[in-house]
Amino acid sequence: MIELKNDRFLRALLRQPVDTTPIWIMRQAGRYLPEYKATRAKAGSFMDLCENPDLACEVTLQPLKRYDLDAAILFSDILTIPDAMGMGLYFSEGEGPKFKNPVRDLASIRNLPDPDPEQELRYVMDAVRTIHRELGGSVPLIGFSGSPWTLATYMVEGGTTKDFGKVKGLLFESPEAMHLLLDKLANNVIKYLNAQIAAGAQAVMIFDTWGGVLSPENYKLFSLAYMQKIVSGLTREAGGRRVPVTLFTKGGGQWLEIMAETGCDALGLDWTQDIADARKRVGNKVALQGNMDPSVLYGSPEVVREEARKVMQGFGEGDGHVFNLGHGIHQHVNPDNVSVLVDAVHEFGKRN
Ligand code: CP3
Repeated sequence: MIELKNDRFLRALLRQPVDTTPIWIMRQAGRYLPEYKATRAKAGSFMDLCENPDLACEVTLQPLKRYDLDAAILFSDILTIPDAMGMGLYFSEGEGPKFKNPVRDLASIRNLPDPDPEQELRYVMDAVRTIHRELGGSVPLIGFSGSPWTLATYMVEGGTTKDFGKVKGLLFESPEAMHLLLDKLANNVIKYLNAQIAAGAQAVMIFDTWGGVLSPENYKLFSLAYMQKIVSGLTREAGGRRVPVTLFTKGGGQWLEIMAETGCDALGLDWTQDIADARKRVGNKVALQGNMDPSVLYGSPEVVREEARKVMQGFGEGDGHVFNLGHGIHQHVNPDNVSVLVDAVHEFGKRN
C-alpha cells in the first residue's frame, strides 16, 4: 500500500480538519487542454482513448502536471457500462454520445447482459491500476459511475435529449420495465465501483446528471432509491482507509436533505444552489463539494479570484468543503485561469 502524500481531499470529504481547502475540477482532463487534444488525436477517438489504459493514464495526469490539484479522476466515461452491455456506444461530432441499440421495452431490458468488470470492462480496471501506480501516492484517485437513472436516460433515448420523451414515456407507460432496468443498472454499478475500489480508486462519485428533470415523487422512486441501493452495496474501506462516496444530482438542490439520508459522505452541488443555504440544511451529516459556475472561468483572473472567494465565504468556517465547479469545465476556457483558481482556493482556504 502506498502512503498518500496529500490526503486533504479525502479528509475534507469525511469532514476532518485540513490545512487548506482541497480542489479538483469536474472534467479536469478535457478539451480545454491542448495536450489533451493531442493525446486524443493520437488515440483516434474518445472511446479509443478510454480503452487504452496507458493513454487514459496519460490524460488523467495532464491536469495534475499543470495545476496543484488535490485529486485525480479516472479518465473514462459513465457510458462504459451500457456499452459493455452490447448497446454499441459511439460519439458523433457535435452531437454527443449515441447508442446503436437503444432499449425501449421489457424484452430488450430482460435480455441485457451483466458485464463482468474484470472482463468486458477490464480496460477501465487496468486504467485505474495504471493511474494508481503512476500517481505514486501524490494525491488520491477518484473512481466514478453514472447513476442508474442517468444511464437509463441515454440507454432509452439512444443519445442526448431535450424533452426526455422516450425515457419518461417508458417510466409512465411501463414503470415495471423501468424499475427492472434501474435495478439491473444499480447491481452493475455496485460491481463496477467495487472493482474500481479494489483496483485502487480511493473515493467514488456517482454522477446523476439527469435526476433534476424528474418530479419530486419520481426523483425518489426512480433515481434516489437506486443511488441509495448503490451506497449500501459499496465497499467502504480499502487499504486501511474509508472510501468516501459522493452523490451529485445536477438540478437536485431541493433534495439535499433526502440525499444526505442515503449514507453517502458528501454531496456535489451545482452552481444554481446557494452553498451557505445547502450547508445549513445538511448540517454535519455530509461534506459538500462545489459549486462555482463553470462560466466564471471565462472571466478575468480578478473575477475568477473574486467568485472563488464568494463560494468559500458562502461555505464559511470549518471543515467539510471540497472546492469544485458546479459542473464540467467548458472546452473554450483559458487554461491559465485554472491555475488562478486552484491557487486562489488554496490561498483563501489556509487555516490558521
Ligand atoms: O472529470 C474528468 O476529468 C473525468 C472524465 C469524465 C468524462 N466524462 C470524460 C469525457 C467523466 C467523469 C465523465 C462523466 C460523464 N460522461 C457524465 C456525467 C458528468 C456530467 O458531465 O454531467 C456524462 C453525462 C457523460 C456522457 C458524456 N460523455 C457526454 C454528455 C459527453 C460530451 C459529448 C461532447 O461532445 O461534448 C461525453 C464525452 C466526454 N467524456 C468527453 C470527456 C473529456 C469529451 C470527449 C472528447 O474528447 O471529444
